[in-house]
Amino acid sequence: MNQRSQERLALTGGVPVRERPFPAWPVHDHREAEALVETLDDPKWGIDSPRVERFESEFAAFQGAPYAVSCANGTVALEIALAALGIGPGDEVILPAYTFVATATAVVMAGATPIFADIEAQTYNMDPGHVAALITPRTRAILPVHFAGASADMDQILALAERHGLAVLEDAAQAVCSEWSGRRVGSLGEVGTFSFQSSKNMTAGEGGMVVTASEEAYRRVRSYQNCGRMIGGEWYRHYVPASNHRISAFQAAVLSVQLTRVEEQTARREASAAYLAERIKGEVPGIGVMSYPEQVTRNACHLFLMRYDPEEWNGIPKSRFIAGLRAEGIPCSPGYMLPLYEQDLFALDRVRQRPGRFGEAWRTVDYRADRLPNTERACYQEAIWLPQFVLLGERADMDTIVVAMLKLRGRMDELAAASD
Ligand SMILES: Cc1ncc(COP(=O)(O)O)c(C=O)c1O
Repeated sequence: MNQRSQERLALTGGVPVRERPFPAWPVHDHREAEALVETLDDPKWGIDSPRVERFESEFAAFQGAPYAVSCANGTVALEIALAALGIGPGDEVILPAYTFVATATAVVMAGATPIFADIEAQTYNMDPGHVAALITPRTRAILPVHFAGASADMDQILALAERHGLAVLEDAAQAVCSEWSGRRVGSLGEVGTFSFQSSKNMTAGEGGMVVTASEEAYRRVRSYQNCGRMIGGEWYRHYVPASNHRISAFQAAVLSVQLTRVEEQTARREASAAYLAERIKGEVPGIGVMSYPEQVTRNACHLFLMRYDPEEWNGIPKSRFIAGLRAEGIPCSPGYMLPLYEQDLFALDRVRQRPGRFGEAWRTVDYRADRLPNTERACYQEAIWLPQFVLLGERADMDTIVVAMLKLRGRMDELAAASD
């Protein structure tokens, strides 16, 4: 413990454990700058840009997927993927209730019905046992999220899908570089999607990708990404109703450079996460860490997850602990505040009052009827997220996180009496 750990909490006016910021994000240097300037001189800034094609090939190779199609963001990547799988009204898609809202709204936008599964307590990934219980004759697809960068249990999910004749769409928005049993995620099922939004492990501010191992799916994905055109078809021939989701050459230029750093940054995050987890397990009471199966051979570590136990902290709510930790100079967040079925858009009484969009079936489900205990515990009591750039720091930076938590621990009465 350093000397500051003995002092008053920063939340009540003491000196913070750390005043130095963690590494800045996004990481960029002269290479992004040069790529952007070079792109200005390209004859093509968008349609048919060789830079966009090159980035798609690089990303496909990196992620071990035969095909990749870039698009505007991770949300439309999901929408395109669902359209390409032919999912629509009357179909049910099973996804976790603990994820970013886009995983569910993409299903609604397809006119299909999202069905929420609980998460596993140890990984916060979708619980395959609960998925199995939710399968009905209307189920068409399983949509696992590789949450925080760690792969969902793809052995069990793929086995279930095969047994019931379902498609698997992987939401890998947070999981570039992640592996399950030595294989990169995204094309383990039929289709997978990624996000390059500004907080993600590689970014151009916005951006997304759809990957697949199936040539047929690839052709459909390309069509839904590009106004319903067909590969090799004439420019003004359109075969399916679809929007324009293309990215520009400038985004591709930045993303090609960002991709070259992902291996090294992932290794650094994984090392920091392993060290931090060990220290927390050994030294900080009332804070749990995740425990992943051995098949998670590579973890993108998009977030470092902690499990706060309010009982072990004299009933101090998670929000106060987070306020205390932030005041000590540790960036952290409570994460998703609500299970998706508690979001207004899924509340039956309110949904019924709105004019019908995106079909009817999902509007008749009483999503709040079945409460999901692990999801609720994560949202309301337990989950604390550290963002990925924290893990790009040195060991000494990880040490300050532990010191800050021990400082809060040593002054629990003061923390209990403080306001958030
Ligand atoms: C799990 C998950 N799915 C989908 C998305 C949507 O990606 P985007 O913000 O690029 O639309 C995100 C991130 O924002 C995400 O974390």
